[in-house]
Amino acid sequence: MTEKFSTVNDFNDSQDEYLNLIYEIMQDRKRGEKPIAFIRTYGCQQNVADGERIKGMLQKAGFEFEDKPDNADFILFNTCAVREHAEDRVFGNVGALKNLKLKYPRTLIALCGCMMEQKHIAERMYKSFPYVGLVFGTHALHQFPELLYRSLSSGKRVYVRDNDDSLVHEGIPVKRDGAFKGWLPIMYGCNNFCTYCIVPYVRGRERSRESDIILCEAREMINSGYKDITLLGQNVNSYGKNLKNSPSFAELIKEIDDIDGDYWLRFMTSHPKDCTKELIDTIAQSKHISKHLHLPFQSGSDRILKAMNRHYDREKYLGIINYAKERIPDVSLTSDVIVGFPGETYEDFKQTLSLIREVEYTSLFTFIYSPRVGTPAASMDDPISAAEKSKWFQELLDVQEEIAAKRCKSMIGTTQKVLVENEKGKDNILNARTSGNIVVEAKGGKELIGTFQNVKITNAGNWILKGDFV
Ligand code: SAH
Ligand code: SF4
Ligand code: F3S
Repeated sequence: MTEKFSTVNDFNDSQDEYLNLIYEIMQDRKRGEKPIAFIRTYGCQQNVADGERIKGMLQKAGFEFEDKPDNADFILFNTCAVREHAEDRVFGNVGALKNLKLKYPRTLIALCGCMMEQKHIAERMYKSFPYVGLVFGTHALHQFPELLYRSLSSGKRVYVRDNDDSLVHEGIPVKRDGAFKGWLPIMYGCNNFCTYCIVPYVRGRERSRESDIILCEAREMINSGYKDITLLGQNVNSYGKNLKNSPSFAELIKEIDDIDGDYWLRFMTSHPKDCTKELIDTIAQSKHISKHLHLPFQSGSDRILKAMNRHYDREKYLGIINYAKERIPDVSLTSDVIVGFPGETYEDFKQTLSLIREVEYTSLFTFIYSPRVGTPAASMDDPISAAEKSKWFQELLDVQEEIAAKRCKSMIGTTQKVLVENEKGKDNILNARTSGNIVVEAKGGKELIGTFQNVKITNAGNWILKGDFV
């Protein structure tokens, strides 16, 4: 395999100095005792992981974080472009900051993330919101200190238009949002070009991190108490393809699984076209990998799958699912599905319904198709009305609710290992999660948060379980 993309461990050398300079500038510029940042991230876990790196850099420059923009010296929206709804929210929230900026002109407002890799959107936002001082896309993340410094020191607007998507930048500091649940990116970008999807255009070509760096980060997380680690990539099954002598994804998770400790390992997302029996066998035999497979099918109709450029058909998909059910008892299956892809008929949609009935998913992420400028599907004929698509969508939700409720009920009387996550809010009820990613409510003290416990399931709702700690 040729090495098309290379890893550069360039962060410390080139960017640390800028963080020191930012620290100095902020001592004069801050409104309160410490410089405050407000970072709002939209979209998928990949964006959340990027947001944690931005926070890591800001923390090194002396910033503290608040979850409201009111006192902030620096406000950043880390955006998502996957559906129109995600974009509309960003436009609305940036628009709402106008008064705050008028009141505190020295507050710097910035935009980054996937929307900013779409020229027509980045330009529109730059023009519509003159009080936005800094704009950069996903490929410029590693240069963030330099860009922030340029913006703060010059007082001019900084807008990064072109940048490189071919490198993996290592050494960026990270401040994780969770103390015991964490994200670990293993690769970036996507080469699949599903015809509806904007991700390959805004995240660039697929490139993997070196396995020794991933193993080192996994060890660090496990040693510092992380109990639930999710490996991230748009298609984790093609991990390592651009590297020399790299382990495959199944080999990589085997190596991580061998690290001693008390933790669960998850991964997302697995693409059905590359999901192998070897991967399922690895899950089945592992100590730490959760018995959960998130395998997006998008549509149950072969005709639509072809138009989506997904490279598998219903039969192949069900083949993997059935193998997983056979090898991993009680496997929890989840998926993504799109309703109303251009040209989809009610007959196609019925195939989607029959597939979810056959598989019996624990839960589904369901989306109504949203046209994305520049993708092939955006110029396909789309005769079905929005009202009709909403009706189908509701039908899908109803069917899935019935399936999820049945699955939850079947777990009454069992004892489940759970990771306790947080307080529900009142009456000492805690939220926990099973290895299959189902929420369980049980009564207990706060000291249980962040620990593994066993819960005897006594009751079930449509989506959640209730029980008692044993
Ligand atoms: N790489 C992952 C998913 C990334 S995007 C995978 O291939 O499974 C997450 C989900 O958003 C997709 O699985 C798809 O269901 C949905 N999605 C992507 N583009 C969309 C669009 N244009 N309209 C509606 N849903 C979309
Ligand atoms: Fe989008 Fe398809 Fe890539 Fe997933 S695999 S990110 S759906 S193009
Ligand atoms: Fe959105 Fe970018 Fe993720 S478009 S779904 S944040 S990769």
